[in-house]
Amino acid sequence: MRAIALEKASGRPVLKDDHPEPVLHAPDQLLIRVLQVGICGTDRAIVRGEGGEPPPGDGYLVLGHEMLGEVVSAGNAAAADYEPGDLVVCTVRRSCGQPECPTCAHGESDMCYTGKYVERGIFHAHGYMTSRIVESTEYTVKLPEELRPFGVLMEPTTVVEKAILESVLVQHRLDWVRSLDDSSAIARDWRFVRRALVAGAGPIGMMAAFLLRHHDVETHVTDVVPEDGYKASLVNSIGARYWNVSKTPAAEIPSQVGNIDLIVEATGIAPVAYELLNALGVNGVLVFTGVPGDRGGEFQLQGGHLMRQQVLWNQIVMGSVNANRSYFVQAVKDLSEISRKWPDALARVITGHHPLEDYEVALTTQPKDEVKAVFDIPDV
Ligand code: BGC
Repeated sequence: MRAIALEKASGRPVLKDDHPEPVLHAPDQLLIRVLQVGICGTDRAIVRGEGGEPPPGDGYLVLGHEMLGEVVSAGNAAAADYEPGDLVVCTVRRSCGQPECPTCAHGESDMCYTGKYVERGIFHAHGYMTSRIVESTEYTVKLPEELRPFGVLMEPTTVVEKAILESVLVQHRLDWVRSLDDSSAIARDWRFVRRALVAGAGPIGMMAAFLLRHHDVETHVTDVVPEDGYKASLVNSIGARYWNVSKTPAAEIPSQVGNIDLIVEATGIAPVAYELLNALGVNGVLVFTGVPGDRGGEFQLQGGHLMRQQVLWNQIVMGSVNANRSYFVQAVKDLSEISRKWPDALARVITGHHPLEDYEVALTTQPKDEVKAVFDIPDV
């Protein structure tokens, strides 16, 4: 089978044609034909030599963790819920299986304590840039047909779905937020987020803006691209407001718009990320989702001023990574509603389609107006 992979020996991306055909070997598994795979900053980082590990014993890692697929066949147990032709998306992380890890035991491998988890297409497991895969129903969610054109956006959506829902949960520290909805601990009530800022108009930032606007949050998106360009027009088309931070630094935005309750960082650039503290409001939450390399990124901060502000304003700064199946289930609902509300805008998030043969250029270069580029996977 064909597959885009990173070869360990050369450290280079390759298009393999001898990746083994997967087979069902447990009753809860599905054989899935991969239709599309999104290209993520993490894939490009792996190709640059920053992270990524093949499965133990293998000389290559099949890349890709943002997939959309269709069920080909189902094991005996899986057949109760899935049939051939069902549209599906698989999650990325697999639990560490260590007895001392309560989160993994709970289906929350995104919060794994041991760090011994596996991530498809990233750490120790092959990814999805290949024609067929096998996956357990435990790590698969079904999508409605209406999401066929947009299903490849599910995984990046789940990453921000998690980041925002965690922030929402954190704000249950506020009595007035708790009093809005006492139905369950993870009430998923977005009303404390009256005004949000999203830093970075890439795929993660863009999906954060869609989610926030869908939940009627006043949303401001920052980047360094021009105000009359593609990304700015996409942001503005869903009722969010685009700001070019080369003209208006993020720190100046609150004085023009008011207290910022939530900032979703989606730049992966440490100096930019920490500067955002200067824009965070009273009782605000700043959540980092970008993953920079672990070297470099030194910068200076007005530490005293920012620490004082963080304490006096009850601010929370946190990181958020990955998403477990519960966020995928939530994202199916949100993305379906978003696709009905803004079908044209959502279609504009997918800015490029590539055949597998484009692997080298698509994984090493990023066109200026790219939001999400995808590989269309042939059925061979
Ligand atoms: C993926 C996450 C993954 C993270 C760290 C991100 O690009 O979307 O699922 O956990 O990289 O490997």
